[in-house]
Amino acid sequence: MPENGSAAKEHAGRVREMFGTIAKRYDLLNHLLSGNVDKRWRRIVATRVRDRLSSSSKSRVLDVACGTGDLSLALFEITGAGVVGTDFCRPMLTIAAGKTSGRIRLIEGDALDLPFRDGTFDVATIAFRLRNLSNVESGLAELSRVLKPGGWVAVLEFSRPANAILRPFFNLYFRKLLPCMGGLISGSRSAYSYLPASVQKFPDQSQLSRLMEQAGFEQVGYENLTGGIAALHMGRRSE
Ligand SMILES: C[S@@+](CC[C@H](N)C(=O)[O-])C[C@H]1O[C@@H](n2cnc3c(N)ncnc32)[C@H](O)[C@@H]1O
Repeated sequence: MPENGSAAKEHAGRVREMFGTIAKRYDLLNHLLSGNVDKRWRRIVATRVRDRLSSSSKSRVLDVACGTGDLSLALFEITGAGVVGTDFCRPMLTIAAGKTSGRIRLIEGDALDLPFRDGTFDVATIAFRLRNLSNVESGLAELSRVLKPGGWVAVLEFSRPANAILRPFFNLYFRKLLPCMGGLISGSRSAYSYLPASVQKFPDQSQLSRLMEQAGFEQVGYENLTGGIAALHMGRRSE
């Protein structure tokens, strides 16, 4: 993963272009390749977020790297909060705008340099992107920065299946079938071939918990989803 300024910019440009290419087929592929389980995962995230929001005031929730807006929409419908979605790929945001019809505020922005003031949001979420940011620690620091003291972060990511029986099937699907099918349907082989490698390199559930603690989050915990194929990590910014 690139660390220095110009390499990081180049990397960001490539990622933006890649998502721009697959934007129109992104939702179809998500639902097809996951057998629709991705919808359930996003609803679980939104439910856990709702459980942590105070009912006494109108809350503000930020969905970082919101893509086509599915999590933003679930957050809006389940929490009733004011939801802002941000992403740096305009074609993905255009699809989100079509789906959310003004219910979500959508703002173009980089997860590593969010266009919001310190302490703006009660909750910040990021789904299926933290592991691919050019710097995961900076991504967590930026999420923490825009949270109010005591606010919650929720990270939804592919993870390591906890179940030993599930692991070989997951590996076969993730390493072979998914890149092949994703490449064929999206027309961009690279867009789906990076997934298995990036999941392999990404910290597992305990390691990500530690990274979140190092970023200053408290009460960090995780919930395995579908046997640990994905995991939802949550942590609280200190008061
Ligand atoms: C795999 S998609 C996930 C979208 C959405 N969160 C979901 O659950 O479907 C990744 C998204 O992250 C966006 N993205 C990647 N790097 C980003 C960055 N540095 N800042 C903002 N958005 C970014 C991409 O444009 C893309 O829309």
